[in-house]
Amino acid sequence: MTVSALRALPAWMALEKHYRQIKDLHLRQLFAEDGNRGERLAVQAAGFYLDYSKNRITDETLTLLLQLASEAGLRGHIDAMFRGDRINVSENRSVLHVALRTPRGAVVMHDGQNVVPEVHAVLDKMAAFADRLRSGAWRGHTGKRIRNVINIGIGGSDLGPVMAYEALRHYSAREMVFRFVSNVDGTDFAEAVHGLDPAETLFIVSSKTFTTLETMTNAHTARDWLLAGLNGAQAAIARHFVAVSTNAQEVARFGIDTANMFGFWDWVGGRYSMDSAIGLSTMLAVGPDNFRAMLAGFHEMDEHFRTAPFERNLPVLMGLLSVWYTDFFGAQTVAVLPYDQYLKRFPAYLQQLTMESNGKHVTWDGATVDYDTGPIYWGEPGTNGQHSFYQLIHQGTRLIPCDFIAFARTLNPLGRHHDMLLANVFAQAEALAFGKTEEQVKAEGTPGWLVPHRLFEGNRPSSTLLLDSLTPATLGKLVALYEHSVFTQGTIWRIDSFDQWGVELGKALAQRILPELESSVQPELDHDSSTNELIRRYRKLKGG
Ligand code: F6P
Repeated sequence: MTVSALRALPAWMALEKHYRQIKDLHLRQLFAEDGNRGERLAVQAAGFYLDYSKNRITDETLTLLLQLASEAGLRGHIDAMFRGDRINVSENRSVLHVALRTPRGAVVMHDGQNVVPEVHAVLDKMAAFADRLRSGAWRGHTGKRIRNVINIGIGGSDLGPVMAYEALRHYSAREMVFRFVSNVDGTDFAEAVHGLDPAETLFIVSSKTFTTLETMTNAHTARDWLLAGLNGAQAAIARHFVAVSTNAQEVARFGIDTANMFGFWDWVGGRYSMDSAIGLSTMLAVGPDNFRAMLAGFHEMDEHFRTAPFERNLPVLMGLLSVWYTDFFGAQTVAVLPYDQYLKRFPAYLQQLTMESNGKHVTWDGATVDYDTGPIYWGEPGTNGQHSFYQLIHQGTRLIPCDFIAFARTLNPLGRHHDMLLANVFAQAEALAFGKTEEQVKAEGTPGWLVPHRLFEGNRPSSTLLLDSLTPATLGKLVALYEHSVFTQGTIWRIDSFDQWGVELGKALAQRILPELESSVQPELDHDSSTNELIRRYRKLKGG
């Protein structure tokens, strides 16, 4: 039986052997044997502090994982991305989201052309628009000031903007309302416009392709809603709709003046686009200066990723730890647990970033993998998760590596709240790692029959990111950190982290089913018996 190129690497084979040797080693023992482990297995870089000492690794594990990165060609692949090579092989595209945050005057080449001037031209256009809108110089059709901004988009054209708006709400124009519509479920639109005056509302239609069914359906509904509220005045569209897209033709066809279109490029993947014009809603909320500060944060992490040696490289270390748990311990998921309420949408954002990127079962040359790829990312902000699913992480039967994210300084100092919050995050990581032994439980006077229930075996791994405070720059760095961790994992697994063919089949089938639901006569159904019956029942129930 032939094994894949990855599993044939000397470092991979050495890791398999090493895993068998250390899989039962307890974090209690690792810490007992090395009084400095907590300081030693930590990296301070790009203004971030990552403590990865509570992971089930030894120095040898690290050496082997770093060897794996080098044998898998990570250095060359990083260089290829930054150079603009077409590393998105299945779509034959470059992957240059890093160009979106390069400073003015830098050079990033794509097909023989420096893209940095175009990137800054769009940023300048966005900033000019943001200044006009925020100052009240840009008015609605009836002369009223725009107070409400609604972003219509889905996937990468929604999750980044929503997450960033929530994350940076502290810095946002509080007198304005920002809402986001993504779902084709009409409820999403209906609730988003509830109570709003069309004369004061601006829609940003965000879609890389400008053909996405959900977004175009919502955009048409928005146009109808606006026209209904403004006596059908077609001229109002130009004052109340702007577009963010790579597809000028479709934008014009929709009726949006392309002068009010903010472009980006096919070398920006949807889930890597929150720092492109897709971030227009973010810029309108926090202003151009804060948006640029966020881009500077992204860039700082990009440079760290590009230049730091792998043993001190935050995204590389995080990516390698994920490979370690996914492929050797058989972990299925990673929990991301931000101890900051402003990051409440961060796990949802990460789900697209990580799972649309690395949810792949073939390598970039089309061979089926014989190892696991992208884990499931999930999470909730602390401390809410503690009163929900942490029970399973502490005492369940699954191994769930956790990423804790905490900030030393809160943006809302209120009595003892922040110390309490941080006490909880440190306590959780400690409890997961060290647990509570039978002796400890008994020493507390616990009756014998209750001891197994109150036992915490520990040895549950986590990493903790302790950051300074949640600023636009910190957010940029944090997102770039995960982007490059995803890249690191995808490179090791030899998969294309930048395509998303897996979403196509469902889309095509929905297009086929829609007319069957809408038809006024009983349609001929030739799906499987389950789908046929569901369609029949739905038609009957809705009274068709
Ligand atoms: O879910 C598939 C997908 O193509 C995502 O990758 C993308 O972010 C989303 O749809 C939205 O696409 P668009 O920006 O073209 O509307």
